[in-house]
Amino acid sequence: MKFYAVALLAATTFNRDVLPILRDRCQECHRPGQIAPMPFVTYHQTRPWAKAILEAVLSRKMPPWFADPAHGDFANNSALSKSEIETIASWVYGGAPEGNAAEKPPARSWTLDWNIGKPDRIIEMPTPVAVPASGTIEYQYIILPGGFARDTWVRKVEVRPGNPALVHHAVVYTREPGSQWLEGRPRGVSFALPASAEGRPNPASFTTSDILLVYTPGNNHAEWPAGMAKRIKSGSDIVIQFHYTANGKAQQDRTRVALVFASAAPKQVVLTLQMGNDKFVIPPGDPNYRVQVSGTLPNEALLISLFPHMHLRGKAFEYSLPAENGRVETLLKITRYDFRWQLDYKLRKPRLLPAGTRLLCAGYFDNSPNNPLNPDPAAEVRFGEQSWQEMMIGFFDVAVDARFDKESFFASRPSK
Ligand code: HEC
Repeated sequence: MKFYAVALLAATTFNRDVLPILRDRCQECHRPGQIAPMPFVTYHQTRPWAKAILEAVLSRKMPPWFADPAHGDFANNSALSKSEIETIASWVYGGAPEGNAAEKPPARSWTLDWNIGKPDRIIEMPTPVAVPASGTIEYQYIILPGGFARDTWVRKVEVRPGNPALVHHAVVYTREPGSQWLEGRPRGVSFALPASAEGRPNPASFTTSDILLVYTPGNNHAEWPAGMAKRIKSGSDIVIQFHYTANGKAQQDRTRVALVFASAAPKQVVLTLQMGNDKFVIPPGDPNYRVQVSGTLPNEALLISLFPHMHLRGKAFEYSLPAENGRVETLLKITRYDFRWQLDYKLRKPRLLPAGTRLLCAGYFDNSPNNPLNPDPAAEVRFGEQSWQEMMIGFFDVAVDARFDKESFFASRPSK
């Protein structure tokens, strides 16, 4: 009884109750230099947003998270708990008081720095790329000499755009020595690989080089579990593919990539694999057009994360394992796909997939006028790089025996 009375009297305050939630669940994006337009680090920054914050967390607009909780369990699940939402509600309804400064939680070390901690290596574009004020911008490529004198194992990676408002995505590749991909192209300056007149991607853009990270708003860093790392082969270059979007003013971007190395060679190498379908034609006005792709793993692999990719008409996405008895096990189901947020779903418990496992991805597209993001419901939509075209790709990270690289993983079969 007494306890209850005390609980009623103790108002919910910013410093004691709300700041720990903002620090752990929001500041990853809501701090200076990150993608959210307003920081929530101090009371004075946050107070004017109190009502908007309550609305955003009640509607689950924030933090962005789209996995159907009925399928899969993800380590980076950012959905707030009921009690976290209640704390924010009680603070806002109580007049959003600041409280006692002595009750502030300790700041996270990354508050003004890299999400991955102190990098061992930062690779920066030598000169900025100029991004025009308007118009369609072809994907830009830049080759950055890596200077890796020996095979290097990367445990954590982060991409920090110089100008987050412009970078719609950035795919960071490691191009091994001897690769013919982009052979003869200049280093250190950006260039485009123009699409065909019909909007088909340039064949020169095709590569089997491994990916370190697909940067998107909401996915700016990765860290792999102990015993797993990405391999950068001795002599490799870093190649970044940028999708810049014009935003009304001519601006520049100079992106950096930060790496934390593993101290010892790991048992398993992490490969970023993908399955895509580029043969679809989405009819005009179709509210729910399904496109699927499936593939079979040639070797055993530990599945660690899933990263669906579609464009503005993307509506839903599923990864599943069809079994021989006709049953389907759903690994991830996204029922309200949002193009503006491209997230990587990291399995809390990595899943061992034996050699021969069939993995299936299905994307659903809303090409109707009811889709508020739809650039043109009257269009017949095909595969292409620009946002008004579509894509259907299921990326997934696997950890495999460290003797493999992407090529040998697909070229060799286990001996029976
Ligand atoms: C992954 C990055 C990310 C995280 C995590 C995140 N936000 Fe945001 N938030 C954004 C971005 C980017 C915007 C601006 C674009 C938008 O509104 O979609 C935004 C916008 C907002 C807005 C303005 C909404 C509006 O309708 O104008 C509020 C309020 C907000 N966030 C609250 C929060 C709170 C509270 C948390 C934590 C519980 C949080 N956000 C976590 C990236 C993030």
